[in-house]
Amino acid sequence: MLEVRHLKVWYGVTEVLRDVSFEVPEGRIVALLGGNGSGKTTIINTLSGLLRPRAGDIVFDGADVAGRPSDHMVKVGIVQVPQGREVFASMTVHENLELGAATRRDRAGIRADVERMYELFPHIANRRGQRAGSLSGGEQQQVAIGRALMARPKLLLMDEPSVGLSPIIVDMVVETVRELHARGLTILIVEQNVGVAAAVAQDAFVLKDGAIAFTGDAPGLIDNPEVLSSYLGR
Ligand SMILES: Nc1ncnc2c1ncn2[C@@H]1O[C@H](COP(=O)(O)OP(=O)(O)OP(=O)(O)O)[C@@H](O)[C@H]1O
Ligand SMILES: [Mg+2]
Repeated sequence: MLEVRHLKVWYGVTEVLRDVSFEVPEGRIVALLGGNGSGKTTIINTLSGLLRPRAGDIVFDGADVAGRPSDHMVKVGIVQVPQGREVFASMTVHENLELGAATRRDRAGIRADVERMYELFPHIANRRGQRAGSLSGGEQQQVAIGRALMARPKLLLMDEPSVGLSPIIVDMVVETVRELHARGLTILIVEQNVGVAAAVAQDAFVLKDGAIAFTGDAPGLIDNPEVLSSYLGR
């Protein structure tokens, strides 16, 4: 579904992604790991059209979309749940969900999908009129995931969805990712929590020094001390 080849991304004079190549096959969950500042969010933001690559290909559903703007990426089906959730704090839960459908025009479909989000996340259904900024971290994560799903993605990009959440809420995130996968969604998930990556993903990539340093199967990561120590510093 997604093929990234020799991607290079710079911030001004600083090279962050030197030569990144990886694939996300349709119907899989792929985990992207790497230390702090290794460039994980830079990859997600480039795939989302928020950053322009200096070189390289991003082939999605057979078309090269590298350098296209974010509204184009959303229309072709690439949608992200951003790091830190970034819900619109002063807007209601309901308004946050509706904003996820900003590129759509099918009003009846949008209304039906909002109700579907409330079925998927009954907890936030009871809070639909509440300001999103007043919710707990786990509830905000549900709003952020629901908002992304409102764009009807084919490929969901999740940037560290488990960070800062209590173990029980992390389990909820894991269950949500599995449920979305069972419904047919393809997912690229960035994680610092190797346990979460190993629990949900089939394939894993580790980013180091601006390139993919390790490729393997995700469940095997958890008992691969060499990968954990040399690439992730633990
Ligand atoms: N807007 C920017 N301008 C300049 N440098 C940036 C910018 N955003 C990120 N960087 C730098 O690029 C590198 C990669 O950042 P990025 O946010 O992609 O890392 P990350 O792997 O997502 O880190 P984290 O695990 O902390 O979220 C870091 O060295 C960071 O300081
Ligand atoms: Mg990041």
